[in-house]
Amino acid sequence: MNILITGASGLLGGRIAEYADSRGDSVFSGYLRHHPPFGYPLKLDITSSQSVSEAFRKARPDVVFHTAAITGVDRCEWERDLALQVNVDGTRNVADAARDAGAYLVFLSSDYVFDGSRGLYKEDDARNPVNFLGKTKVIAEDAVRASGARHLIVRTSFIFGSRAARAEANFALWTIRKLKSHIPFRIVADQFVTPTYDRNLVKMLFEVAEKGIEGTLHLAGATRVSKYDFAFSIAKSFGLDWEIIIPSSMSEIGWIAERPVDSSLDTSKAQKMLDNKPMALGDSLKRMREEIPD
Ligand SMILES: NC(=O)c1ccc[n+]([C@@H]2O[C@H](COP(=O)([O-])OP(=O)(O)OC[C@H]3O[C@@H](n4cnc5c(N)ncnc54)[C@H](OP(=O)(O)O)[C@@H]3O)[C@@H](O)[C@H]2O)c1
Repeated sequence: MNILITGASGLLGGRIAEYADSRGDSVFSGYLRHHPPFGYPLKLDITSSQSVSEAFRKARPDVVFHTAAITGVDRCEWERDLALQVNVDGTRNVADAARDAGAYLVFLSSDYVFDGSRGLYKEDDARNPVNFLGKTKVIAEDAVRASGARHLIVRTSFIFGSRAARAEANFALWTIRKLKSHIPFRIVADQFVTPTYDRNLVKMLFEVAEKGIEGTLHLAGATRVSKYDFAFSIAKSFGLDWEIIIPSSMSEIGWIAERPVDSSLDTSKAQKMLDNKPMALGDSLKRMREEIPD
């Protein structure tokens, strides 16, 4: 299978490229500034339709995993023009090119399309983002639907795993580093998510691509937790001292962008449809523990 990944230098894109490489797929790894760790590197700026066309011409993809985005929640708030250019215009460019090439497009959207007032959101629940990142994802989802490309919109949540993208640690690696420093630190206990183990997500993404599932699907971890409970579970799984984690609240943190209180995703549709099921948090952390030497 010819696979084009946008954002292959990122947290998720890198894992997708690694797995595709291991399967023997032809992997074209789109990147903007950071050289991707796996696949054939392809310089690609999704905000330029010319750059996107060129990448599609080289890769001739059967499947496109579109993960590239401005993902910083606060960054999207203060760099709104950039967030619109990359997350919306860039996605439109990729979707149009996928349509023209007859490729199947998997677009990575986010739990932040929801306002977080209820939690455990299903695919058809009303979107009502509370921050600009979420707004760009809502508009991008609509652009993908309107493009005419054969597509699946995947909403995921709080991705973690044993690999850092570039120098940036994901929440689990950051928490382990903090726990090993033995210096007490604060984690919010009143924000809820469905942490998603990167390798589990990648397996589900390949299954949906192989089956050509279309529409919208929530692919995330199967366990809803507060960020504090997530950090607590990490400490327990890695045999580290959980008592140095101090529960705090969202109001104590000086975030620029508002966060949804409970953006957890209901993954029951994926549980029913897929052989690779959304994993429970305990199982995911056990698998991650096996990947990290002491
Ligand atoms: N991480 C999460 O917890 C989470 C949760 C929900 C949804 N998602 C969604 O999942 C997807 C992947 O997230 P992630 O955390 O893996 O992202 P990430 O690590 O922040 O990586 C973002 C990627 O986008 C690329 N990029 C940025 N601007 C670009 C442009 N103009 N043209 C081409 N590429 C560009 C970056 O390339 P360079 O580094 O080479 O510049 C990088 O590879 C995103 O769409 C995100 O919204 C993630």
